[in-house]
Amino acid sequence: MDEHGGDEIARLRQRIEVLERQLGKARAGVHDRDEFLRRAFEDAPIGMALVGLDERIVEANAALCQMLRYTREQLLQKTVPEITHPDDIVKEAQPKGDMHEGTAASFLIEKRYLRSDGSVMLGRLSVSALFDEHAKPAYFIGQLEDVTRERALQAQLGQAQRLDSLARLVGGVAHDFNNMLGVILGVTDLLALDLTSDDPRREDIEVIAETAQRATALTRQLLAIGRRGHGAPQAVDAHPVLERARTLLEKLLGEDITLAIELHAESGWIVIDPTQLEQVVLNFATNARDAMPSGGRFCLRTRTRELGRDDAPPTLAPGRYFELQAIDTGIGMDAELREHIFDPFFTTKHGGGTGLGLATVYGIVSQAGGHISLASELDRGTQFTILWPEAAPVDAPTQVTTAPNEQGGAHVLLVEDDASVRLVTERILVRGGHRVTAVSDPAEALALARTELLFDIVVTDVVMPQMSGPELAAELFALRGELPVVFVSGYAKTAQSELSNHPGFLTKPFTPAALLAKVSERLLAEREV
Ligand SMILES: Nc1ncnc2c1ncn2[C@@H]1O[C@H](COP(=O)(O)OP(=O)(O)O)[C@@H](O)[C@H]1O
Ligand SMILES: [Mg+2]
Repeated sequence: MDEHGGDEIARLRQRIEVLERQLGKARAGVHDRDEFLRRAFEDAPIGMALVGLDERIVEANAALCQMLRYTREQLLQKTVPEITHPDDIVKEAQPKGDMHEGTAASFLIEKRYLRSDGSVMLGRLSVSALFDEHAKPAYFIGQLEDVTRERALQAQLGQAQRLDSLARLVGGVAHDFNNMLGVILGVTDLLALDLTSDDPRREDIEVIAETAQRATALTRQLLAIGRRGHGAPQAVDAHPVLERARTLLEKLLGEDITLAIELHAESGWIVIDPTQLEQVVLNFATNARDAMPSGGRFCLRTRTRELGRDDAPPTLAPGRYFELQAIDTGIGMDAELREHIFDPFFTTKHGGGTGLGLATVYGIVSQAGGHISLASELDRGTQFTILWPEAAPVDAPTQVTTAPNEQGGAHVLLVEDDASVRLVTERILVRGGHRVTAVSDPAEALALARTELLFDIVVTDVVMPQMSGPELAAELFALRGELPVVFVSGYAKTAQSELSNHPGFLTKPFTPAALLAKVSERLLAEREV
């Protein structure tokens, strides 16, 4: 019996040992699983929280704390509404109510959060319920992803695509219109040449020409919006261009608006048509003036930006950029307005605006491979930011000049006080392949001659109110050395005077061919000297 009982005890002991080993293993297993879940929660790359039915945050992982910029201790003092953007609190009420009632087991929404520093984060939140033993929800499990940048990039790309297709449409229409206007103007020129200067029909033709000219100016602007502009992009240092615009900007802004030009970029070199750069700045200034009817401050600021993969806008490659900001303290814009300001013909200035300013800016910036964005709030002013790829500096400033060549192609300074004659003459010269700088009086011509602008030949009226053509020529020669000149005159008296013996003399009215022949002849004569 004793022996028998002893065996029994030994067997039981063995059995107990086995059971203890199994229990130990099970305990370790439970520990491992707890550890796995804890680590999965803590190390997850998305924000996770356990939230009570009363909206208190009971648990929060490291990613959530980092996203919302709170410590874990701070976050466990908060409720969900306290970290939600006030306008988005109601978004969650309905689906959460459904979960309370047991009619839904989970939901997914996007909503805005308020970080500890007051900044706004757009989050994609997925919520599911944790049930108690009576199958009632006991907790909510929230999983949160920061989609702020993703959504901003999507919106930017969407807007860029929309503006691209608008620009293509506008550019296409403008291109065709421009060609038709060319025909109208050409025929009008020819008609005008056939009429004597006292023909009563001249006035009608002038009206046609002027209207067509205005339409041409408009289509040019539309072509810039459509990125088919005929600009002359070149490497330019933007800083002196901005500095030179100062006087004009001061005049435009008026006395009640303070102008600040802060040029902090290490390099101002970009590839752009300098007149287009001026146009951008003038458009900003005009809008700023309109946004500050009772005065304020307008600031142009530049700096150099190094953009990496993370902070470069979606349409720009990482690299060095020249940043130009235009900042005003005006009436600002709300979200609805901000969406549309780059649209062609969008304006809020009833009767006073064309709605083409910012559309043109957008076209110019895009054509030069840049990017434009804005920050603005109602009554808090506006800040436009343009990024242009930095360009290599060019040593000698590029000279705006064209050498005369066999096919014409000279740069002509045209001086003529009669607007319609000036127009017709300019068109003939342009069609003859020349570049023309046209001015309405001798003083302007002399002012130009004092700048760096180079021209190959002067075409001038003879009788002008302030100064005669020959007097102007003498002054120009004094400034720039001798130049080929064509004198154009319709007065019988001058025709009889000694000037009529001058080889460059041409009587009005002249045919297009006669004018072009005279210009070529003078250019050739000059080269043969
Ligand atoms: N600096 C600014 N401050 C406030 N609103 C602006 C500013 N710049 C542009 N806007 C808004 O954008 C619209 C479009 O501007 P724009 O394309 O230049 O056309 P326009 O000036 O002819 O109205 C303006 O009508 C205005 O509502
Ligand atoms: Mg404008």
